[in-house]
Amino acid sequence: MYTEKVIEEFTNPQNVGELTDADGVGEAGSPTCGDTMKIYLKVEGDRIADARFRTFGCAAAIASSSMATRMILGMTLAEAWNLSDADVVDALGGLPEPKVHCSLLARDAIRAAIADYRVRRGLEPQERGSCE
Ligand code: FES
Ligand code: FES
Repeated sequence: MYTEKVIEEFTNPQNVGELTDADGVGEAGSPTCGDTMKIYLKVEGDRIADARFRTFGCAAAIASSSMATRMILGMTLAEAWNLSDADVVDALGGLPEPKVHCSLLARDAIRAAIADYRVRRGLEPQERGSCE
C-alpha cells in the first residue's frame, strides 16, 4: 500500500531529533487520528539552515516529516511556508487516500515553526500574502 519512497523514508528517516538552539518550533496534531508532529528550525538570514522533527505518529507521518524537513533545507522562509501537503505527497510518490492527512501534519508543523520564528523576531506570524 505504500510506495517504495515512503517505505525508504520511514525505515531510514532523516532529520529525526530536536534542535536545542532552534530559532522556531512548531507543533501540529491531527484531529483525525491524534498523531502529533513537532518541527524545529534553525534560520540563517532568510533561509532554513537546519530542520529536525519529532513525530508521534504513523509510518506515513514519519515519512512525511522526514521528506518535508529534507525539502525545506536551504529554502527561504517564504518558500518553506508555501510547501504544500501535495508537494510532500508528490515527493513521496503518493500516499494512500486514508493517509493523505498525515502529510498535512508536516505542512502545518512547518508553518507553526515559521510563525513561532517570526513572532520571536517581533514580526507578524504569517508571511504577507501567504495566508489562505
Ligand atoms: Fe494520522 Fe498518519 S498522521 S494516521
Ligand atoms: Fe492577508 Fe491574505 S494576505 S488576508
